[in-house]
Amino acid sequence: MRAAGVREFGGRVELLDLPDPRDPGPDEVVIEVAAAGVGNWDDIVRTGAWNVGLTPPMALGVEVAGTVIAVGSRVTGLRQGDEVLGHPLQLREQGCWAEYVVVDAALVVRKPLGVSWEVAAAFPVPALTAQQVLADSLKLAEGETLLVHGAGGTTGGLIVQLAALRGARVIATAGPSSVDRTAQAGAAEVLDYHDSGWPERVRELTGGVGVDAAVNTVRGGSTDTVLAVRDGGRMATITGDPPADDRGISVADVYVRPDAAQLAELCALLGDGRLSLSVGAALPLVEAATALERVIAGASGGPVVLLV
Ligand SMILES: NC(=O)c1ccc[n+]([C@@H]2O[C@H](COP(=O)([O-])OP(=O)(O)OC[C@H]3O[C@@H](n4cnc5c(N)ncnc54)[C@H](OP(=O)(O)O)[C@@H]3O)[C@@H](O)[C@H]2O)c1
Repeated sequence: MRAAGVREFGGRVELLDLPDPRDPGPDEVVIEVAAAGVGNWDDIVRTGAWNVGLTPPMALGVEVAGTVIAVGSRVTGLRQGDEVLGHPLQLREQGCWAEYVVVDAALVVRKPLGVSWEVAAAFPVPALTAQQVLADSLKLAEGETLLVHGAGGTTGGLIVQLAALRGARVIATAGPSSVDRTAQAGAAEVLDYHDSGWPERVRELTGGVGVDAAVNTVRGGSTDTVLAVRDGGRMATITGDPPADDRGISVADVYVRPDAAQLAELCALLGDGRLSLSVGAALPLVEAATALERVIAGASGGPVVLLV
């Protein structure tokens, strides 16, 4: 089968000719991939720094959307022909940038009707991350004030939407081209992060006290983010750079984990329009290297997916 990935850890991304998928094990399904998400986390997999269960030569890709074509003997919830999406880690045989992928059936959920393959493929990792930050780490409550640093990004945008749905007052940072989208997502105030005084502006917007909770989604952005948190508040970062303990602020260093029940709830919100996501670019598998370069560069405009 055709795939895109690496021949060795640290190698360049290229088209690969990999063996066709094996029959599914009892708890597995085989998915014919329609589209697969591309995130800068795929570069961490490429270098071998994130172990997703595979060794090269291997397809990259940890988010998938496609159609079930074979079902293991013990799988009860899925049938051939079901349209599904997921973040199916640990990967069983190959990554998701491939024509077919064998996955643990318990880690994929049905694609909501009316949601495109592109959006379905770009949704699992950012949506799960956003929910795990707000619900599991920050335990954000209705009426609290939340800062989202980097709300113009895919994950930041979903954090804003989910926080607004929880009834929080959201203050966000975003660049000029993302201000309107961030406000529409539910942010009450949007500050331009190019103004280095933005943490002080956040404090002014909260009566000089600081926000109850904050999320950093920007590499190197934690030290600024924590400045805007009130004494004894909470902060989460998704870029692996937690700041030192300060002023009684609790800090969570969050890494996404697969959770099909949570993903199903998020898909329900996506399906009925309470969550939305616009894909920035959909490229063919042959352009996987370009797609990865694009997300590493952090170009604004929405998530990138590969059409398989
Ligand atoms: N820990 C985890 O499990 C986990 C999960 C998902 C993502 N992540 C990480 O989280 C980060 C964000 O991921 P993503 O996919 O959501 O990113 P993304 O969509 O690629 O974010 C790009 C956006 O970041 C904004 N940005 C760039 N520099 C900024 C700055 N200095 N201050 C504020 N905003 C800035 C820009 O928005 P504007 O348009 O506003 O300029 C840009 O459009 C990445 O580092 C990713 O690896 C971690």
